[in-house]
Amino acid sequence: MKKILLLLTIIILNANENRTLFFGNCIACHGDFGKRVAPHLSEVKGYYIMKYPKKEDFIKYISLWLLNPNKKNSLLPNAIKEYKLMPYLALDLDTLQKIATYIYENDDFGGLK
Ligand code: HEC
Repeated sequence: MKKILLLLTIIILNANENRTLFFGNCIACHGDFGKRVAPHLSEVKGYYIMKYPKKEDFIKYISLWLLNPNKKNSLLPNAIKEYKLMPYLALDLDTLQKIATYIYENDDFGGLK
């Protein structure tokens, strides 16, 4: 029983960490507050999940994008035209993978969808 409780606590803490990282680093641009500066993450997720339905692929390609946002890798070329290319955020790979995991596992990206 104790082991199960410990395991549950670890899972919940991890999930919260991923969520905090996501909201801390992405929502300022990708949320839905006032003037749009980037497409909402639910829209972005839609494109990535269609192309990379498997969790490991999804995490890999979202992380790759974040390590090096550029026209060639973009799945949303029209978004670049509309909003300009996303800036490089200088986050480490481990953090990016946690954020990508949050995006894959959740549909709460703040604000309206
Ligand atoms: C400074 C504003 C800004 C921040 C912060 C930001 N983004 Fe973006 N992002 C953009 C803009 C603008 C676009 C649309 C243009 C583009 O695709 O480059 C975009 C596009 C994207 C795309 C689609 C890429 C493509 O074209 O295929 C993904 C995925 C993405 N962002 C994920 C994230 C994640 C995850 C975070 C947090 C770690 C984040 N972004 C933080 C501005 C931002």
